[in-house]
Amino acid sequence: MYQYSLADAMTDKGNFTIPKTSESNMGFGVLGVFLGLLLEVSTHGPLTVPRTSWRHQDLDLMEFSEPGIFNYSTLLLSEKSDALYVGAREAIFQLSKKNVTVRNNKVQWKVAETPVSMCALKGKSKEKDCLNYIRVLQAVNDERLYVCGTHAFQPLCDYLNLTDFSLTGRPEDGRGKCSFDPSQSFTTVMVDGELYSGTSYNFLGSEPIISRYSPSHSLLRTEYSTSWLNEPSFVYADVIKEGRNAASGEDDKIYFFFTEVSVEYEFFGKLLIPRVARVCKGDLGGQRTLQKKWTSFLKAKLVCSMPELNFVFNVVHDIFILKESDSRDTVIYGVFTSQWGNVGLSAVCAYKMTDVEDAFSKGKYMQKATVEHAHTKWVRYNGIIPTQRPGACINNQMRHQNINSSLNLPDKTLQFVKDHPLLEDPVLPIGNRPRLITRDVNYTQIAVERVRALDGNVYDVVFTATDKGILHKSVVFEDNVHLVEEVQLLKTSESIKTLLLSSETRSLYAGSDSGVVQSPTAFCSRYLSCEDCVLARDPYCAWSHRNATCVNTLDVPRPQHGTLIQSMNGDADKCPRVPGLPVKDYQQVTVKPGSSVELPCLVQSNLAQVMWKSNGLILTEASGFHLIGDSSLLIYSVASVDQGNYECWSVEWAPAAKKNFSRLLAGYAVSLELPTRAPDQVGQVTTILGREDAASTHAAEGNDNTERAPLTPAIAPPSYTAPASVSILLTSPPQTDPSLTPPPSSTIKFHPKLHHPPSPNGPLSETKAPAAEYLQHNNSIALLFLFLLFFLLFLCALAYNCYMQYLPAPCMRMRAALLGSHKSASQPEYRACEAGLMEAPAADKINMTEAPTQNGSQTSQNLRALRDTGYETEPECGNGRVTSHNYGDNCAHQEKPFDVDCDSQSIQFADADEPYC
Ligand SMILES: *[C@@H]1O[C@H](CO)[C@@H](O)[C@H](O)[C@H]1NC(C)=O
Ligand SMILES: *[C@@H]1O[C@H](CO)[C@@H](O)[C@H](O)[C@H]1NC(C)=O
Ligand SMILES: *[C@@H]1O[C@H](CO)[C@@H](O)[C@H](O)[C@H]1NC(C)=O
Repeated sequence: MYQYSLADAMTDKGNFTIPKTSESNMGFGVLGVFLGLLLEVSTHGPLTVPRTSWRHQDLDLMEFSEPGIFNYSTLLLSEKSDALYVGAREAIFQLSKKNVTVRNNKVQWKVAETPVSMCALKGKSKEKDCLNYIRVLQAVNDERLYVCGTHAFQPLCDYLNLTDFSLTGRPEDGRGKCSFDPSQSFTTVMVDGELYSGTSYNFLGSEPIISRYSPSHSLLRTEYSTSWLNEPSFVYADVIKEGRNAASGEDDKIYFFFTEVSVEYEFFGKLLIPRVARVCKGDLGGQRTLQKKWTSFLKAKLVCSMPELNFVFNVVHDIFILKESDSRDTVIYGVFTSQWGNVGLSAVCAYKMTDVEDAFSKGKYMQKATVEHAHTKWVRYNGIIPTQRPGACINNQMRHQNINSSLNLPDKTLQFVKDHPLLEDPVLPIGNRPRLITRDVNYTQIAVERVRALDGNVYDVVFTATDKGILHKSVVFEDNVHLVEEVQLLKTSESIKTLLLSSETRSLYAGSDSGVVQSPTAFCSRYLSCEDCVLARDPYCAWSHRNATCVNTLDVPRPQHGTLIQSMNGDADKCPRVPGLPVKDYQQVTVKPGSSVELPCLVQSNLAQVMWKSNGLILTEASGFHLIGDSSLLIYSVASVDQGNYECWSVEWAPAAKKNFSRLLAGYAVSLELPTRAPDQVGQVTTILGREDAASTHAAEGNDNTERAPLTPAIAPPSYTAPASVSILLTSPPQTDPSLTPPPSSTIKFHPKLHHPPSPNGPLSETKAPAAEYLQHNNSIALLFLFLLFFLLFLCALAYNCYMQYLPAPCMRMRAALLGSHKSASQPEYRACEAGLMEAPAADKINMTEAPTQNGSQTSQNLRALRDTGYETEPECGNGRVTSHNYGDNCAHQEKPFDVDCDSQSIQFADADEPYC
């Protein structure tokens, strides 16, 4: 098997090799690696299931869209006024940020006939591409916005006057500011009236550019070279002001985040790399070298990987910079997936701003080296670096040396930065691992808010949006992450294109192709009991005993915070003990003998397990009961033995508190309808009266029954009885209620049969609403089967490869043991070159395995021949490349066909097409 580990390679600062080898072998090897990964990740990977799921139809979210208008993908929040600006297709809106359903202004910006027909002539679709997609909305000042649109593949920009919400009608060239192609990724940021963009400069989208447009200077841009930008997908750009370094005269810096095709790694395809690049705000370009080009452009690699699983998240989709007044506390959050999207994992990595700064101010440069026939590779630059650090911003120290702007920089420095924009040192994530890894989602957007909980600590709340219209909210603890909830923001399963967060309105704004949605940052009032409120571990929420509601702490004046109950590790024992539901208050269910009955039970938490008890005994499917809709109990063909009390319990494990919390969610008293026996009827009537009393007591206690679904009215209607074989659906499920909660019982045992995957669906529906289907997390059985299948395949392949001697030492040893080969497999060369991939005709191999071992040098020669792939250099062994038998014996002694020194040069390559002899 192919033993190379990408994660190791990408984390260990460049000292690694990706051998170039034949596609089939590589393909197989990589397949093996990823199958292994799938297994590992699925079995050992972190489990992140949102505790609560909120369906779109159950929430009252504010939405905005207009008929005939699509692609609401550009959002801008006004800092000063109550405005959310929305750039859609051919239209710009001004909505109220307090309530996005309120539209205050609208302006249309369509494309004239001529540009449309020109665009169509160039082969673009008239209905889709040749329209004006508004993609840049930036505030110039309080009166004007700068607006750009793709304008039928001829990007144009204009000023939008906010007083009368009109465009000036004198558009200017938008090339280099806005993408031509509406589906191409790009980013912009406005800093002090200057527009910084990462986009492409031409119709084909093949000329990437990071540019600065300012009304007073000419366009400053990147050099058109693959070492500067290599097929980038821009995701984010923002400015970091240098408040702290003001004394040293440091310049403000603009950071760009993107994924590009790596130049420093050789791979059998395009290997993508997430990057952070930065330029200085005061950059004016060079005098002779780098005229009108950035003199401060540097880029570094962002690492987001799981080192222990050898797994790399190498595509960045969005970045959020959590700015703090002290920039040393500023944290950069990013969402990543793997280039191999079928793995179905998304990760959130966080980086310290100071680590990014250090990479740029102290990192080593990489250098393009030409080796052998014009083949180039990137290696660490170990030579002398010009005295003015190339790419550094102008600071006081430079000003002392009469370098007041980039125009004064020496040519040597400029030439160096032109040739060495790439830094070797990577930016590693905090804790050297992702903050959060989630299965079966593709995160597209991220927003983060720092929240002070009642315990006085500050928590980062991470909101991540998916390509299926779902929002995840997670809380970061020191060493783990808790996924508080998932919210179905969009009605339909489409991608969330933009996500903004406003602490002022306590809202999130999500833009998608079909509209804009506003969602609160917390849904505290939906937690109906103290246990639920506390187990949610939501730093925004706390239980108010006085009002018997879960409240947003921001709604409660600070002096009253002491009365609220919150536990960030989910210790629901802090909740006041409430008396359990008396058996006489259980819901009466009367069934005809032989009919079936369904007893609903609503479990809000996906982390809780449901347990049904009948007359104190735990029910199992074996005893003829069935769970439907994950938590409701179905009793078939009710007989007299089935009569009695039924209880639905939820058992929730709070990992941080290291405790189980059990709660009674619903209680039923099931009895048979036996018309011939009058005494039963009498008994039933009396219990019903008891329930009525209980209901009125609840009301008298002043419980907020409008918030929670009230208990079923205490009259036993005739509809509770049904003809045989008709399943009865009770109209209203009993709800979680503080008064229902008995003290946790130590006798509770959970039967695995009853452990069903958590579902966001209500208990009443046996068939799931299609819209809610993607809220499901668990297709475990099917997946398990698939994994097992893959694993078997993988084992077969492993065995085959081992038998064929394609695999290195450990396998060889095993093979030798099994097949009784005489060859000692522990040749030092083997061990040294374990990472190598072997391929040789079987006949040669047999010779090799039987070669006498006493002649060390001959053996190593033979082994080298054995290892030779005809394509490949041996990465670690330092022997250089050895010829294949195809080129004859004269090649066998010709080592080091080109000057590659394994020790000093970190990256290896070999040209597949060239025989070296
Ligand atoms: C615009 O929205 C339409 C309709 O939802 C969608 O089909 C199309 O892909 C979107 N285009 C872009 C560039 O986002
Ligand atoms: C994530 O995106 C990839 C590529 O777009 C797709 O193949 C995959 O099915 C998506 N996964 C999920 C869980 O949506
Ligand atoms: C908590 O409950 C689960 C499921 O019922 C059980 O497997 C586990 O052992 C319990 N843990 C403790 C510490 O009681």
